[in-house]
Amino acid sequence: MQTPSGHPVESSSAKRLVVLASGGGSNLAALLAAHGDAAYGARVVGVVTDRPTAGALDLAHDAGVASAVVSMKDFDDRAAWNDGVLEAVSVFQPDYLVLAGFMRILAPSVVRRFEGRMINTHPALLPSFPGAHGVRDALAHGVKVTGCTVHLVDDGVDTGPIIAQTAVPVFDNDDEPTLTERIKVAERALLVETVGRIAREGLSLTGRKASIGR
Ligand code: GRF
Repeated sequence: MQTPSGHPVESSSAKRLVVLASGGGSNLAALLAAHGDAAYGARVVGVVTDRPTAGALDLAHDAGVASAVVSMKDFDDRAAWNDGVLEAVSVFQPDYLVLAGFMRILAPSVVRRFEGRMINTHPALLPSFPGAHGVRDALAHGVKVTGCTVHLVDDGVDTGPIIAQTAVPVFDNDDEPTLTERIKVAERALLVETVGRIAREGLSLTGRKASIGR
């Protein structure tokens, strides 16, 4: 739908996404590429980063999406920083938070506020290879198949209920950059598809079993 001046009208039923990112933001870019289509069912309404130099900020700016920097060094301690993140995110009134390469652990108090609505993407097939070096650790272990995981965030590190996964082959001549790139291609597609489906169909949880659709 368009206004008389030709600007797209935001679908009132589109779920509001706030994306948290620390790095280049290729996952954010993929979400931004998808959200212009009203049929996608979700819109990125805000971007929050812990790094003032994050490429995600430029992507947000170029897409006309508001952003905020919540840098650890601007706060007295980790608790105050977590409060800062909560405040920055809450301004956007998100339906869902998407952690797309956000390289910080959020306090349980923040996680609880968005229970069942905080989604993370991880570059390995969880529960294998959690943590900051999922690609490197999988390669070092010698696995022949790895991949990516979209999951709900809980109080642990990459331990929340799994929503969706894609397997990615490991080739004999892979090094960390080549494998990272192959995973990231699959990861972007999985994240966009999964977030859109959650926005359109909802997400239910029975024990640890997450299912899209109510
Ligand atoms: C992704 O692979 C994410 O899973 C990992 O960091 C990467 C971020 O990539 N935690 P980008 O900033 O979205 O390009």
